[in-house]
Amino acid sequence: MEMKPGDLAAMARKAQKQAYAPYSGYKVGAALLTSEGHIFTGANIENASYGLTVCAERIAVFAAVHAGEREFRSIAITGSGEGYIYPCGACLQVLAEFSVNIKIISVNENDEIRKYYLGEMLPKAFSLNKNVSSPEVTLVGAVNDQVLCFNQDDPSRRGK
Ligand code: THU
Repeated sequence: MEMKPGDLAAMARKAQKQAYAPYSGYKVGAALLTSEGHIFTGANIENASYGLTVCAERIAVFAAVHAGEREFRSIAITGSGEGYIYPCGACLQVLAEFSVNIKIISVNENDEIRKYYLGEMLPKAFSLNKNVSSPEVTLVGAVNDQVLCFNQDDPSRRGK
């Protein structure tokens, strides 16, 4: 059976119920589809020592890797807030460890979805191996590797 983005999003939404988020009150769910066609889910788990919190995405990725799967097709993410939820930078880096261009299915409070590639969200992942190619993503407005999406004449940016 083919897994549709909406189906994966529904599984993330269900996993969100398992979140342990007494500090932020923000619950996150993730559902990861592997190349083998299996699904691993995760939810964020917070801690009184705040920095020890683990995001939903990493719970799902680590569960999959621990089960022997390291190739991923897509991951859906839901959150208890308003608007589309995107994986944090740390989770993007963890995803990049296993799949250079996994699809990221971002979900909003009405269960509408937006699809991205990991390479769009993290064009230059950290890698110890300089020969590992990260997907090239051309940024709109990028000139000579400089992104001109801020106002360069903005006085608050002077000297930056
Ligand atoms: N969180 C996730 O689970 N995934 C993300 O991509 C971003 C943030 C969690 C961590 C914390 O428990 C809560 O959301 C608020 O930051």
